[in-house]
Amino acid sequence: MTENETAALPLGLALTPLNPAYQEDPFALLDQVREAGRIVHDPQLGRHIVGRFEDVQAILNDRDLAVDPRKATENSFSARLRRLDDSAREPSMLFLDPPDHTRLRSLVTKAFTPRAIERMRPRIEEIATELIDKIGDQASFDLMTEFCQPYPTIVIAEMLGVDPADQADFKRWTDDSVAAGFDPFASEETKQRALVAGEQMENYLRRAIAERRDDPRDDLITALIHAEDEGDFFNDDEVRSMVGLLLAAGNVTTTDLLGNGMKNLLQHQDQVQLLRDDPSLIPNAVEEMLRTEGPVTFSGRITVDDREIAGCPMHAGQSITVALGAANYDPRLHKDPHKFDVTREDIDHLAFGGGRRYCLGAPLARLEAQIGVRTLITRFPSLRLAEQELRWKKVPVFRGLESLIVLT
Ligand code: HEM
Repeated sequence: MTENETAALPLGLALTPLNPAYQEDPFALLDQVREAGRIVHDPQLGRHIVGRFEDVQAILNDRDLAVDPRKATENSFSARLRRLDDSAREPSMLFLDPPDHTRLRSLVTKAFTPRAIERMRPRIEEIATELIDKIGDQASFDLMTEFCQPYPTIVIAEMLGVDPADQADFKRWTDDSVAAGFDPFASEETKQRALVAGEQMENYLRRAIAERRDDPRDDLITALIHAEDEGDFFNDDEVRSMVGLLLAAGNVTTTDLLGNGMKNLLQHQDQVQLLRDDPSLIPNAVEEMLRTEGPVTFSGRITVDDREIAGCPMHAGQSITVALGAANYDPRLHKDPHKFDVTREDIDHLAFGGGRRYCLGAPLARLEAQIGVRTLITRFPSLRLAEQELRWKKVPVFRGLESLIVLT
């Protein structure tokens, strides 16, 4: 690709929510990047972007690529994210490579099991119902603040076993950390808030872990303390970091999946009717929500040696951005990709990433979303969108609404 061709593409800040056109329709801009070539250099942000489904999938599955930002070249996108967190703390599993990642992932898998998630099903249904009962018979309400935000926070907080009265703190701590942790343009104020939030959460969890060491309970924090893999256990710092990761990962993403997904669904009342007529379509509808507007638009990998990526020779330490939100609209795989269709067959998407780092919380996110959609459309038989200008959050790798006003 010539420099002129690259200059015409929406790259750098233009490919972030700081650009109003990106906020309005990121997928149109991502289409341009994906169709410009298998790999596109983004000099402003120090990264190479890959957006075709097959290439993105191959990169996610590639065991010779890293994620630890300490391995990235100075000034690359990954290294910029690293500088946001100069604390002495060990990074969470999300930013570690094998053997550390293998060990932590294998231990958390012993505690955060499909059984533990399935056991939550009746309680998740109750939580959804309780939130809707609270909304009552208001003629209109903000779906984000009244439902999508509190819902997954309450679920993960109850799974972990933290006091329901402390849930507001959990939400604030994770929102503040995520706002700084994934935004290379975060202001000093945002970074400072994240630092304070990190300390407060650390102190809180230190106490929660000590209490459970003395007095084990039937909750996920206790299960993490006792998780064992061939005589190996988490130490207290690792439990703390894992709980922080589960909280943050479980909070923001599921909120945004439901917000984006319900927006898309309510824009197509014929599709809502299909789900009301046949609720067994709801799991498929959630997959279509993940494909068309999943909450995580980008993930990343780092090269650790000189090699080819998507047909392009690269050096070690280069930052590769995989555009999940571009791959999910790749016409090479998806017929009529911009159509939102809850009856679409064999939906294949990369909204949860892939390979050995495939989202650990995917079964929980799916369960919460399916129950959330069902409860909302059942309890509000005329649910529709109010006229409004949508306001989007500004964290670069995520896609989520600040608010979504609906009429009942
Ligand atoms: C709709 C909701 C969610 C989406 C779209 C999502 C998406 C993702 C993505 C894209 C990754 C990175 C994968 C990669 O780079 O290959 C990831 C990793 C992860 N997610 Fe999720 N996630 C969601 C919900 C959750 C929930 C509810 C939890 C836990 C409570 C969770 C926990 C994690 C963890 C622990 C990792 C790191 C896995 C690893 O490094 O081995 N996620 N997720």
